[in-house]
Amino acid sequence: MSKKVIVSGMRPTGKLHLGHLHVLENWVSLQNEYDCHYFVADWHALSTTFEDNSTMTDNTREMAADWLAVGLDPAKSLLFVQSDIMEHAELHLILSMLTPLSWLERVPTFKDQIQQLKERGKDINTYGFLGYPLLQAADVMIYKADAVPVGEDQLPHLELSREVARRFNHLYSPVFPEPQGLVAKVPLLPGTDGRKMSKSYSNDIAIGAEPAVIKERINAMITDPARIRKTDPGHPEVCIVHKYHSIYLPDNLAALEEECRGGKIGCVACKRVLAECLEGIMEPIRERRKELISRPGYIDDILLDGAKQAKAKAGATMEEVRQVVFR
Ligand code: TRP
Ligand code: SF4
Repeated sequence: MSKKVIVSGMRPTGKLHLGHLHVLENWVSLQNEYDCHYFVADWHALSTTFEDNSTMTDNTREMAADWLAVGLDPAKSLLFVQSDIMEHAELHLILSMLTPLSWLERVPTFKDQIQQLKERGKDINTYGFLGYPLLQAADVMIYKADAVPVGEDQLPHLELSREVARRFNHLYSPVFPEPQGLVAKVPLLPGTDGRKMSKSYSNDIAIGAEPAVIKERINAMITDPARIRKTDPGHPEVCIVHKYHSIYLPDNLAALEEECRGGKIGCVACKRVLAECLEGIMEPIRERRKELISRPGYIDDILLDGAKQAKAKAGATMEEVRQVVFR
């Protein structure tokens, strides 16, 4: 029996951080069981960066380096860049003809994001942005995806993909499976200041960060403000360090909690335990990343080879689509 098809994409926003690491670990874990297609969603990124797109090429290569360093394997999965496969755009165009405007307008992320970006002084009330989830539908349908690993927030986009696939199949011919969402239990990791983790807040820990940076970020973490001396009883539930302990050191958690509550461990020592743990996680990734970046053309070649193979599949789907639409 042939393997089920998985498709997922990530926008090239530059160096990835710990939050992305868990998403990628999930992608890695799917590689053996599924026929995986992972791509850099540069057209999607363009919907918000079109005014200054100067870092996109670098960001793409940096992101691909992270992917490879954490264990995505080009021998198992197709790794490629969306804009190398024109067929995504062609399918998006055809789907746009049969997608009611109201389906796009009611996607909850649409109005939310426009509003959020407007508050930050950015107006993206564009045609392309409205079509963002439809391009995403084309991304997954072009490879006839059975399943799409996504975060909880992307489920409405997947629902749209299913509706569009259903409509196409009904109007023309049953070409497309209805892709199912595959929501992994990835830990929701706050930034080091408690807000959402983001490079723009400087509260992130980048994939492959140097030990000094990891230390600096952990030192800046907010702990229990009621603790002034080491002997003051602590309240781990209000502490970011504790939140990280619960994710990265689950086996030590009960003991650490007790020491904190009993005023037996100081925050400095507690942070040191976390820093050592994260340094241990990052070290092999950092070394591998450096090595990959140092090989000239290596990453670009992997992406080009992935694109060649992806293009063959996407081309075959488009052949079918053209035949049933223009017969
Ligand atoms: N919108 C997704 C994100 O921001 C990226 C993406 C684009 C995607 N196309 C996709 C994810 C197709 C899954 C499938 O994370
Ligand atoms: Fe947080 Fe650890 Fe300090 Fe307790 S001892 S407040 S868990 S850093």
